[in-house]
Amino acid sequence: MEKKRIATLSFNDGTPSVELPILSGTLGPDVIDIRNLAKTGMFTYDPGYLSTASCNSGITYIDGEAGHLYYRGYPIEQLAEKAGFLEVSHLLLYGDLPTQQKKEEFERKIKYRTMVHDQLMTFYKGFRRDAHPMAVMVGVVGALSAFYHDSLDINNPEHREISALRLIAKVPTIAAMCYKYNIGHPFMYPNNELGYVENFLHMMFATPCEPYHANPKLVRALERIFILHADHEQNASTSTVRLAGSSGANPFACVAAGIAALWGPAHGGANEAVLKMLDEIGDISQIPKFVARAKDRNDPFRLMGFGHRVYKNMDPRAKVMRETCYEVLTELGLQNDKMFEMAMELERIALQDEYFIERKLYPNVDFYSGIVLRALKVPLNMFTVIFAIARTIGWISQWNEMISDSERKIGRPRQLYLGQKRRDFVPISER
Ligand code: SDX
Repeated sequence: MEKKRIATLSFNDGTPSVELPILSGTLGPDVIDIRNLAKTGMFTYDPGYLSTASCNSGITYIDGEAGHLYYRGYPIEQLAEKAGFLEVSHLLLYGDLPTQQKKEEFERKIKYRTMVHDQLMTFYKGFRRDAHPMAVMVGVVGALSAFYHDSLDINNPEHREISALRLIAKVPTIAAMCYKYNIGHPFMYPNNELGYVENFLHMMFATPCEPYHANPKLVRALERIFILHADHEQNASTSTVRLAGSSGANPFACVAAGIAALWGPAHGGANEAVLKMLDEIGDISQIPKFVARAKDRNDPFRLMGFGHRVYKNMDPRAKVMRETCYEVLTELGLQNDKMFEMAMELERIALQDEYFIERKLYPNVDFYSGIVLRALKVPLNMFTVIFAIARTIGWISQWNEMISDSERKIGRPRQLYLGQKRRDFVPISER
């Protein structure tokens, strides 16, 4: 019988030591179970959770040192090359790739939920036309909780599954409506004759005036982008969904909270920030100047699309994205795209620079995705919306896993208090 590993926490002031069990997962680093620590009256302190596992999960595994990413054990490179997005969604939600019959059944379940309640359209009118689409997404996806609440028991697995299906099906429709509202075009209804990704492009770019046919190679490129962004273990937005969900909140409201967290430029907003950065650099000749700024501690400028909390090697998604970039630009006859050339030169220079090598800063998934989206004629302010469409399956799969976990508890971190000690009220005449 293998001896259980224990970590002993000892103190240099005579406080009795504490034994903490060490737990091992299927893959990845062991964890120190600190739940016993409560008896010492002390907490751990880990702002930004650099050394903290917030939960156990069986959905996605990342090996940051090696640059590996598995969805339910399948390497992301294989899924991006061989699977469809709804196949991957089935894998993330139910734990396995679907048989042909299950795949067709799942596609039907999604297809017949792509329409939104007609009243939802009135929510858009409350936003200025030039509102950032992510602001509209937070509002409208959150509003779904008003349409699906009274009949929803999150402890019922069937209700959780229907919520997941509704979100997977309706978020692309809501996203395309955000774009149409932004440009003042009429909303396009979903067309259930089309596949999931093609249907999204149709709702985005078709008009009632003429037929629209998406380029199959570009549909496949966007599908690959959806697959690459579908889940990524306990990132900031997924942790937001889990924390909101831990109180028993409505899953549509939890996903709206995830969309809000994703919006930030340090997270999903980075794809939009990369294009703005490349635009600011302007020319390959200016790259050394901006790389120097990124290295200067006194300059807030950072190379957007570079670095990652977990990957200390090339993000495997960035490699696939770079290949997709080249394929899409070639298909569109844009091989000499200036932005792509600048991005590749920026990557080349940064990966040779001691500052980036020492800190293990490599391109992440956002570094190339924006260039592909721009080539697909997706407007800059919709880049993070695309990320949100893809990540919805990750969020709702992780939410479902958490709610069905018998050990579920409300998330309630503690703090290191640095404020005032107790003091009595002072009347205003004496202040
Ligand atoms: C995503 O978590 C996920 O899984 C997220 C995601 C997902 O799929 O959900 O992968 C999606 O969010 C990808 C990341 C997108 N963000 C960006 O590209 C924004 C630019 N990157 C950085 O802001 C940063 O790298 C983070 C936010 C991604 C990670 O930050 P960390 O882990 O908190 O690291 P850090 O800020 O402590 O940086 C460590 C060092 C620092 O220098 P020193 O203090 O040691 O001297 O590296 C430096 C930082 O200054 N650094 C950078 C840098 N990123 C880190 N320096 C210049 N340019 C950068 N991009």
